[in-house]
Amino acid sequence: MTTQLELAPTVQLSGGAAMPCLGLGTWPLKGQAAADAVASAIGLGYRHIDTAENYRNEEAVGEGVRASGLAREDLWLTTKFNREHHSVAGVREACEASLKRLGTDYIDLLLIHWPNPDQDRFVAAFEGLVQLREAGLVRAIGTSNFKPAHLDKLFAAGLVPEVNQIQLDPYHRRDDNLALHAQKGIVTEAWSPIGQGSALLDDPVIGEIAAAHGRTAAQVVLRWHVQQGQVAIPKSANPQRQAQNLAVFDFTLSDAQMVRLDGLGRPDPDMLDADRFGH
Ligand code: A2P
Repeated sequence: MTTQLELAPTVQLSGGAAMPCLGLGTWPLKGQAAADAVASAIGLGYRHIDTAENYRNEEAVGEGVRASGLAREDLWLTTKFNREHHSVAGVREACEASLKRLGTDYIDLLLIHWPNPDQDRFVAAFEGLVQLREAGLVRAIGTSNFKPAHLDKLFAAGLVPEVNQIQLDPYHRRDDNLALHAQKGIVTEAWSPIGQGSALLDDPVIGEIAAAHGRTAAQVVLRWHVQQGQVAIPKSANPQRQAQNLAVFDFTLSDAQMVRLDGLGRPDPDMLDADRFGH
């Protein structure tokens, strides 16, 4: 008897690729722990893994992918590059270095990790991404941690990312970003989608909705993301929690429950500000 794996549905990107809406985040896993987490997740049905140059785990992610035995074309791999590569030639070098570390010959989604507006070179970096997509080294291109003002600068140059990956969860709503993404056809991808497993998962409103569905708080929050058409990349090194986080496609939150979750947004003075932080 074979077991049918539950795979995440995909969202359509403006460049034509279909991206699995639930993936595995890998920060801050490194070395064998990262390779094991990736192989475990793929075994459970994950078909989307998120890494970055800055996580220093691309080699380990590549090892985990090979250990899983999954065919490369059945997997979505996202990576990101750092500020020193923000030029047309630099982005190509960054891509080639990531390909080598990952042990693959294309990347599904390559992102500018942070805008670094102090050096003001992200428009050139994005032009480099367009060339990589034309050359077939990457299937889709985008940004990470771009605030509306950074996106506006790309739009002014005639450039539109397919995806913008930002910190987003019911406590961190990012409404200004979401409105702009919707207007421009940019898919929103949430990093730390379950609030880094912290206080968010103890929120009484989320607990009440979870109890009503017989689900965990993490599942309710992940369902809130994917039900809005967002992509979410929860990190877990624990196979039970990995499985739990993927099992969010067989229940639906009511409109009233979505509205209650939408109402949880609050200011966070500790949130990283992409005008001040970046690498
Ligand atoms: P662990 O790796 O031990 O499972 P985020 O992706 O929002 O940054 O959250 C990651 C954190 O949340 C990690 O500390 C992870 O720990 C924890 N975590 C992941 N999935 C769950 C879950 N289903 N329930 C509770 N905590 C979780």
